Order: sequence, then structure tokens, then C-alpha cells
Amino acid sequence: MPLTVLQHPVVDHWMTRLRDRSTPPEQFRVICRRLTQFLVIEATREVPTIVRRVDTPLEPFEGRALDGELVVVPILRAGLGMLDAVTDMLPRVSVGYVGLERDHTTAIARTYYCKLPPVKGRPVLVVDPMLATGGSAEAAIEMLVHEGAGDVRLLAMVAAPEGVKRLQARFPQLPIYTAALDRELNAQKYIMPGLGDFGDRLYGTGGAAEG
Ligand code: PRP
Ligand code: URA
Repeated sequence: MPLTVLQHPVVDHWMTRLRDRSTPPEQFRVICRRLTQFLVIEATREVPTIVRRVDTPLEPFEGRALDGELVVVPILRAGLGMLDAVTDMLPRVSVGYVGLERDHTTAIARTYYCKLPPVKGRPVLVVDPMLATGGSAEAAIEMLVHEGAGDVRLLAMVAAPEGVKRLQARFPQLPIYTAALDRELNAQKYIMPGLGDFGDRLYGTGGAAEG
């Protein structure tokens, strides 16, 4: 299924600022929200809408409104950095949470939390800024598929080819949206050139990935 890599000079500008190791957490958070808006716009092109009649100051108008069926699931912790941008743009979205943490030695993700609204038959946006080995996204999407989620989409800030390949093999129908497709994973399974540990940069908790 399609991998969409955003192609936009404004995205490139903010992605470069996000990667820059000198960008402090307070700016990192703002830029993350900004870039997430671009991903949301791209990923929601085909979401269902309903007719909404309103009165302009001059005459009645028949417009469209989002139908409120959407669910967003941030993968904790780093996915929380993308959540506000989604709820700002899609105010009636339901929010579920999946907590996953990669082991620093094996890079294998462990689930420590899961709280989902009903997802059966509903479109779901999974937000996780880093798609590295794909283990975290795979585990979260497995849970959603198990719960009967219909149309699941993944929104990532940076993706590695290894993670994309893994997800495409496991979920051939899964649309993936990313602001950047990077070169490769390093020996520690960090994305290269990447931006380091997203959660640490978002929350100022110190970097395991810094060279
Ligand atoms: C990061 C990131 C992804 C995951 C990606 O989370 O936010 O969830 O790694 O790696 P993968 O594709 O190899 O699974 P991390 O485990 O560092 O936890 P955190 O969000 O709590 O910092
Ligand atoms: N998780 C991160 O935060 N960064 C990476 O490069 C890979 C996984």
C-alpha cells in the first residue's frame, strides 16, 4: 500500500529545524505540532463527511462537516507530541492510547499500556513520530486490527526503509504518511540521519542516540 512522503518546501524547512541538535525542547514541540498538521491534512483526504447546512450572513449554505467517527491513537510517549495537532484539526476525534517502549539493547518494543475507545469499523490514525524497525507500530496496529479497526493509517515524522518494509509486508493495505524517508538504521536501530531520540528531545530527558 502507498507510502506518502510529504513533498513541500515548508515541511523541508521545519524538518531541518527538527533534526538540528541545537533545537531546544520548547521549539521542538512547536515544530512537531506544525509538521503534524501537514501529515493530518494528507492522511484525511478521504475521510467521510456529512452535509452541514449553515447560514452565511447573506444566504443559506450547504457545506460539509467531518462525521465524527475518527479515532486517533498516539503511541506513548513520543506520539503525544503529535496529539494536540490532531485534536485541534479534528475536534470530534476519539482518542485511544497505546504505551510501547523499545528496549535500549534489543530495540524490541514492550507494551505497558493500552486504552482504546471502540474502534470497530472506524477510521483510525496511529501517530508515532519515529518509524524505525517498525516493531512499535506493528504492535500497536496488531492491537487495533484485533479490536476490529477498519481503515488504519500511520502518521510518522521520520521513517526508515527497514520499518516501512516490515509494515508493508505485515499490513499490505496500510497507508503510511511521513514527512521524511531517511537512509537507514544504525547498529543501535536509530534512524540515520534521523533526529535522535524523539521522546527525549520532546521532553528534555537526555539523549541515548547522540553521537
Ligand atoms: C520510539 C518512537 C517509536 C519507536 C520506534 O519510542 O517514539 O515509538 O521508538 O522504534 P521502532 O520502529 O524500532 O519500534 P521509544 O521506545 O523510544 O519510547 P518513548 O516514545 O517513550 O521515548
Ligand atoms: N526512536 C527514536 O526516538 N529515534 C530513532 O531514531 C529510532 C527510534
